[in-house]
Amino acid sequence: MDAKESPRIVLCVGGGIAAYKSIEVLRRLVDSGYHVVPVLSAAARRFVGELTFSALGSEPAKIDLFDDTDPIPHTHLGRSADLVVVAPATADLISKIAHGSADDLVSATLLATRAPIVVAPAMHDEMWSNPAVRRNISMLRNDGIFVVDPSEGRLAGGDHGNGRMAEPWVIASYARSILSPRRVDLRSRRILVTAGGTREAIDPVRFVGNSSSGKQGFALASVAAAWGAEVELVSTVDGLAGFPGISVTKVVSASEMHEATLDLVSEMDIVLMAAAVADFRPSQSATEKFKREGRSEWHVDLVANDDILADLVRRRRDGSVVVGFAAETSDLVEHAQEKLQRKQLDMIVANDVSVEGAGFDGDTNVVVIVTADGSRADLPKLEKSTVAEYVLEKAYSLLPSR
Ligand SMILES: Cc1cc2nc3c(=O)[nH]c(=O)nc-3n(C[C@H](O)[C@H](O)[C@H](O)COP(=O)(O)O)c2cc1C
Repeated sequence: MDAKESPRIVLCVGGGIAAYKSIEVLRRLVDSGYHVVPVLSAAARRFVGELTFSALGSEPAKIDLFDDTDPIPHTHLGRSADLVVVAPATADLISKIAHGSADDLVSATLLATRAPIVVAPAMHDEMWSNPAVRRNISMLRNDGIFVVDPSEGRLAGGDHGNGRMAEPWVIASYARSILSPRRVDLRSRRILVTAGGTREAIDPVRFVGNSSSGKQGFALASVAAAWGAEVELVSTVDGLAGFPGISVTKVVSASEMHEATLDLVSEMDIVLMAAAVADFRPSQSATEKFKREGRSEWHVDLVANDDILADLVRRRRDGSVVVGFAAETSDLVEHAQEKLQRKQLDMIVANDVSVEGAGFDGDTNVVVIVTADGSRADLPKLEKSTVAEYVLEKAYSLLPSR
């Protein structure tokens, strides 16, 4: 990203133990090419030194509303921001934002901005579940502020509970998705995403599988969650457990994925079938490990799996959008269009897995998006998260307006 054109993020740091993790948030945002200005509350400076933030930030850390060098720092900070991230957001800061207080640089900046705000709360579970904090959090959500819910885990003082700040990579991923020019409003939308390659057991230790890493599905799920959707992720690989807004169902085989997705599909607005599902499975799965015992050949018979997409299309809700994915090695668009029509999909995302920078495992993809109404978009090599943004933006445009 060119320094001049870099989106500007104001990173507000509240006074909690998790303030040390904010340094990692800062580093990740700067490494992603954003211009990041740290702003520390007086309490935050009791936990972490402003020098570290100044050294790692794009500008020296700001700490004072009554600053000799800038007579009105809060309006300058607020107006120039493309995004404001609050991490950690203390119970006190959340209350200030909810009620419009402006008695220090952090709260005044938050009041003076028109940029989207991402808040990552961090506090003990007693505070997080306190009715006053719950009320304030609802007010923030109603005001359109993005809340990155904390997770359950280790808290300060050796305690355990719900209130641990989301991991820095999660907060950075939210920030990136919210800054995207392709962002659409997915609040109150339910989205089903499948990810990973299925494994079809031959015996207890062997399987028929494929090389799908689940990365494209994970990117779809995490961008959708950051844009406000309630995401159901049915996945064969671990990776997004604990990501706010995503409920994960772990499966292994195509038949498990079939069952899990059919249970959910009738409640979904958008279905994104990014998993690589095996078309065939061994006709029998041995309960004991197959032994070589001097054999020179071993034949495994395969039978066709149920067609998950066909069944999802049959059970879909009226007005929902069903998106298929096609990994091809030749005649990409022809195959994709044929699959789109045969399976009665609304949209298909096709990638030629033989092309450099596309397909399994890598962090980039090269896809063509084809819709049932005849539109076609050939995207260049992009990060999988950017591909996810294009896919979600297009799928959203196919939903009936409310
Ligand atoms: C050791 C210690 C740890 C604290 N941790 C938290 C915390 O994790 N979350 C929180 O909401 N408040 C925490 N507090 C209380 C805040 O520091 C206090 O409410 C402060 O006024 C917050 O100021 P600020 O919101 O302007 O940063 C902690 C206080 C102390 C002394």
